[in-house]
Amino acid sequence: MPALNTEFLDATNPQDLERAAELLKAGELVAVPTETVYGLAADASNAEAVANIFTAKNRPKDHPLIVHIGSESALAQWTRQIPDWLPAVANHFWPGPLTVILDKHPDVPAIVTGELDSVGVRIPSHPALLRLLSEHHLAVAAPSANPYKKLSPTTAEQVYDVMKGKIAAVLDGGPTSVGTESTILKVSGNHAQILRSGPIKAHDLAPYLPMPVETPLVHEFAVSGNKKEHYQPNAKLHLLNAENIQQQLQRSAPNSGFVVYGDLYSGHDHPTLQCLPSDDQGYRKRLYAALYELDKHALEHIFVLKPPENERWLDIWDRLQRACSD
Ligand code: TXA
Ligand code: MG
Repeated sequence: MPALNTEFLDATNPQDLERAAELLKAGELVAVPTETVYGLAADASNAEAVANIFTAKNRPKDHPLIVHIGSESALAQWTRQIPDWLPAVANHFWPGPLTVILDKHPDVPAIVTGELDSVGVRIPSHPALLRLLSEHHLAVAAPSANPYKKLSPTTAEQVYDVMKGKIAAVLDGGPTSVGTESTILKVSGNHAQILRSGPIKAHDLAPYLPMPVETPLVHEFAVSGNKKEHYQPNAKLHLLNAENIQQQLQRSAPNSGFVVYGDLYSGHDHPTLQCLPSDDQGYRKRLYAALYELDKHALEHIFVLKPPENERWLDIWDRLQRACSD
């Protein structure tokens, strides 16, 4: 494929937003901001456009994509049936970082769902993306805008670096506010499960669901796209306890970087030491950005201080463990 001249568009400029919609409607790929991470979007009703996502990302074709819609009224186009449990959940968590798996509508292109009978749907809360979707009656299929298995981008510049020449445009909506991917919820009969942990936890969802919610450690619904190794920086990542982090810091090998949090390290920021906030929200928002920053230094190792062990940090543990795996 010849290299494209990738446009860099400003989400706060109405003309640029129009341009992004025009490109999407013409079947082009546009990277868009969401509140979680940047997505690599194509018109979800256009199978050919969606197929190009897999080429640009170098992603296996059987990995299902999430469909992003602008309002609940668009749901009927994507699912065969709106389940009874959905309205309460949607009212509370949408727009926001929650993807739900629903029975797919027969008209949904098979390339969107990786041939599955179900479809992942969410209403994202980034205001520019919401405007783009609702004002132009668009639904976009969008995986995170990173090459397969690499870190998800949280700024437009990161997307531009890795995707320029491969996609029509990047819409810059600023750094993402959440920083890691959405929670994925699947309900089958009387059984609710979190397939991918995320910023919204089982205990957040519980009051809005008529059945208990499980976060399985080993997924029963093993889906392609839910691979062990994923979200990886270029450097080798190691999760260490506080004592071992201290030892590595004292060795201060020139090819090593650090991701830490807590009072002990605050004020010790330097180019290869990223000190993140100690609360899960602040940490989540900065994690991928910090790993991207460290990767610029062409390090061999990144040592990450183990996060706290409680439910609010579950998704962060999940991402870090995948980032560490061989
Ligand atoms: O926050 C997010 O969810 C971001 C932004 C761009 O919205 N998107 C994202 O997409 O993380 P992606 O493609 O990187 O991850 C989508 C995940 C995969 O793990 C895939 O297996 C799962 O969603 N998924 C999609 N459709 C599914 C389905 N029908 N059944 C089960 N899992 C599904
Ligand atoms: Mg991804």
